[in-house]
Amino acid sequence: MIDFQQVINSIHNDLKQEIDRGLVANYIPELSHIDANNFGIHLKLLSGESFSVGQAQAPFSIQSISKVFALSKAFQLQGNDLWQRMDVEPSGDPFNQLSLLELENGIPRNPFINSGAIVIADILVSGLENPKEDFLHFVRALANDQTIQYNEAVAASEKATGYNNYAAANLLKSFGNLQNDVADVLDFYFYQCALEMTCEQLTNAFYLFANHGVCLQNKEWLTASQIKRINAIMLTCGFYDEAGEFAFEVGLPGKSGVGGGIVALLPNQLVISTWSPGLNPKGNSKIGMQALEAFTTKTKLSIF
Ligand code: DON
Repeated sequence: MIDFQQVINSIHNDLKQEIDRGLVANYIPELSHIDANNFGIHLKLLSGESFSVGQAQAPFSIQSISKVFALSKAFQLQGNDLWQRMDVEPSGDPFNQLSLLELENGIPRNPFINSGAIVIADILVSGLENPKEDFLHFVRALANDQTIQYNEAVAASEKATGYNNYAAANLLKSFGNLQNDVADVLDFYFYQCALEMTCEQLTNAFYLFANHGVCLQNKEWLTASQIKRINAIMLTCGFYDEAGEFAFEVGLPGKSGVGGGIVALLPNQLVISTWSPGLNPKGNSKIGMQALEAFTTKTKLSIF
């Protein structure tokens, strides 16, 4: 029997001493003020128990982790038609890379790089009656938590400085792969990325990915086959040009965000989230990746 509280306590204790915590993202100005010493871990077992250490109940900007929720909602709305507008291959390139999109005629490599997530945002803007409100309700329902909110200042900050995303959206539009106006799609996308959640809320919201599509409240949102596909994309594309390294070090499907959060899961067994805002050069949480590597090594719990 593994003493999970002791495992996460010891990982937290070892890594909180680390001097080099990576660099807090500053290309979204509103994120640059976050203290790099924040560090939380939350673990939920499908058998019911939960374990926390550090700042696991502090809300932070989930950024690209939201792309998993957006993909889930779009998959629910459109089924496999989705894959006519994007591929499911790792890009081997950074999340904001543009040249591949041009070379491949406006078909993003996968739904987790920014261009793919912008196509997903377009699908949600078309398919939801009140896109921002309905998406927020979806995430709240998955997490079983009505307190989850968008951070308006973070959304505004990215809207004012997100030139790379404007470039991606304009390229997509020029190739006929956006149905709505660039401004409307990006407004939704920036809000989606500006969702604030805690490690605990994230583990709760990701419960269905470890449980074949059935959420904490026992409602089936996606089919087991859809969940299999989303988990496969998390494993191969969830960490951009570091997806191979994450699979190698950690061995779980997961997703990161430039707010410093990571969520990872082991089907049928557990969901674990970490938050440490300092990023490595690939834009993934430096300490979060180390914490998850230590977790799967110490517990021997990974998909491999
Ligand atoms: O579009 C962006 O650049 C951000 N809103 C999200 C990027 C992100 O989180 C990449 N993840 N590691």
